[in-house]
Amino acid sequence: MKYFILFGPPGAGKGTQAAAIAERFNLRHVSTGELLRNEIASGSELGVMAKKLIDAGSLVPDEVVEGMIEALFNAVTGIDGFLLDGFPRTTAQAEVLDDMLAKRGESVTSVISLMIPDELVRERIRHRATIEGRTDDASDETISNRIATYHKKTEPLVAYYKERDKYMVIDGVGTIEEVRERVLSALEPFSKDRPE
Ligand code: AP5
Ligand code: MG
Repeated sequence: MKYFILFGPPGAGKGTQAAAIAERFNLRHVSTGELLRNEIASGSELGVMAKKLIDAGSLVPDEVVEGMIEALFNAVTGIDGFLLDGFPRTTAQAEVLDDMLAKRGESVTSVISLMIPDELVRERIRHRATIEGRTDDASDETISNRIATYHKKTEPLVAYYKERDKYMVIDGVGTIEEVRERVLSALEPFSKDRPE
């Protein structure tokens, strides 16, 4: 099984690029943000708790998302791997993921990191706010908090995966098609079935 991580700041294009990657490698795309938004829409207790944190631009507790990911690893079949979008997002989550995979005799295949500058994050999210109804896109304050949370809690994962030789950075600036070309060509080495 392949376990790709789609990494990057808010609005970098993770969700936009996910379908092409998932199709190319027969992966299940898992966005923890989407899973949490589904919880909010369903009105579950978890959703009510998550909404407050998400609307403030903070992260939900590690255990919540770790549980969601583990449940999917156990339940989903008929694919060649997973494309994790928005998980892991803290060093603790990355360590838990490594443990979960080690128990299965697996490991992270590669991290695909889409990088764009903070100003473009703001521009893209402000634009998305006019199209989609995400409450965490609605105010500049929340967007700023999401950017700050990314730098403080999530960016340390760049070093974490570089140290493990799993980190691949892709320039996320350009048209959607240009970025997709870059991502798919960077992933070309993984299309051959090579022994780990
Ligand atoms: P999540 O849903 O993961 O949000 P995010 O990381 O902030 O990322 P986005 O979904 O905003 O951006 P994206 O990179 O997918 O960009 P997109 O493709 O949409 O998480 C939401 C919240 O849930 C978190 O803040 C947190 O509270 C919680 N959460 C989630 N996971 C968690 C975890 N593991 N631990 C704890 N809490 C967690 O693109 C953005 C816009 O730009 C779109 O309009 C798109 O059309 C456009 N666009 C994309 N590419 C281009 C391009 N090349 N050119 C022009 N426009 C483009
Ligand atoms: Mg997304």
